[in-house]
Amino acid sequence: MKAIVLHAFGPPENLSYESLPDPAPRFGEIRIRVHAATVNRVLDVALRAGTQGHRKPVLPLIPGVDCAGVVDALGEGVTCFKVGDHVAAAGGMPLNPCPEDGAGYDGPQGMMGIKRPGGFAELVCVPAFKAHSLPINLDFHAAAVVMRHCPTAWNLLVNIAKTKPGDWVLIMGASGNLGAVGIQIAKNICGARVICAAGSGARAEAGLALGADHAIDYTTKDIRAELLRITGGHGVNVLYDNIANPKVLPQAFLGLGEGGRLVTAGAHGGPVVPIDFFHLYDHRITIQGMPGSRASDLPLCFQAAAEGKIKAPIAHVLPLSKAAEAHRMMESDPGMGKIVLDPTLD
Ligand SMILES: NC(=O)c1ccc[n+]([C@@H]2O[C@H](COP(=O)([O-])OP(=O)(O)OC[C@H]3O[C@@H](n4cnc5c(N)ncnc54)[C@H](OP(=O)(O)O)[C@@H]3O)[C@@H](O)[C@H]2O)c1
Repeated sequence: MKAIVLHAFGPPENLSYESLPDPAPRFGEIRIRVHAATVNRVLDVALRAGTQGHRKPVLPLIPGVDCAGVVDALGEGVTCFKVGDHVAAAGGMPLNPCPEDGAGYDGPQGMMGIKRPGGFAELVCVPAFKAHSLPINLDFHAAAVVMRHCPTAWNLLVNIAKTKPGDWVLIMGASGNLGAVGIQIAKNICGARVICAAGSGARAEAGLALGADHAIDYTTKDIRAELLRITGGHGVNVLYDNIANPKVLPQAFLGLGEGGRLVTAGAHGGPVVPIDFFHLYDHRITIQGMPGSRASDLPLCFQAAAEGKIKAPIAHVLPLSKAAEAHRMMESDPGMGKIVLDPTLD
């Protein structure tokens, strides 16, 4: 098979496109013919550069922390999938063989693409219980991106903020990964009224194109005043942040109304933000941070995507051989959207 191999941390050129023996699925594993693997700023680009040492990546490494594709071969003991099934897999998983349902496994764990071979390859093996069935009408590129971003957004908006139909929801970072799916989940799953905010007119417009009812470019408008104007003076019920921009979030926070909920899973624009505690207690506001997601939400995300309720924000799809170029593109453009590698493309 063809695969990307990282032999040493360093520049994008260190991602070499190589021919390797096909991997054989071990006991309890399936082999996936990869059709999509996402490229990520931290888990791929920063990892390759060598700034993610705390994750203890094992070199030489086939990167790629997720994949979507077709089951191509079954290891001994696997009955829950058959060859030809459409699946996706990501994240932490056992490093040693284990039963197909993972029962009783207490050995070492690690992420694919960091501690075990990842998705930047034509073929990858994963434990069967870490693979998720895909709706047959969901394309692989969308599935990989949905798997990466939707469960976190879904957890924040549905489970944590408990967004109800008719709620006013403010989505920060309208054109970002979590922002783009957050707009669609708030609107199409929760039935909320959605206001999105971003740091340029074009990025705010992108939020409108995804279904937001209103958009605020906070570089030209007073976000608090706009929130109060749009909501008739009530303020929003939910503020979905994930950025912690210290210049913007304090004003957005003042646009939260009575009983408002601020939810977040990220702070790359901060992390320290001054918050008006008078507004916090006076309006009985709740702030809840919640990284991660619930496994039970992933099939709901896939189904919503298959039904067209969530469109995956994909900027580029490139062949596997262009992995180094994908990394360069991300490094040169901080606003670059999602890049997907497809090993079936030439
Ligand atoms: N993606 C996930 O699934 C996931 C899961 C768990 C946690 N997180 C965390 O959630 C956060 C957002 O992730 P993401 O993938 O949505 O990020 P992203 O798409 O890279 O960026 C989201 C938004 O952040 C703003 N931004 C970017 N760089 C900034 C900077 N240097 N200073 C201030 N604002 C900046 C931009 O919005 P403006 O238009 O306002 O400038 C951008 O659209 C990150 O901290 C990430 O670690 C992400």
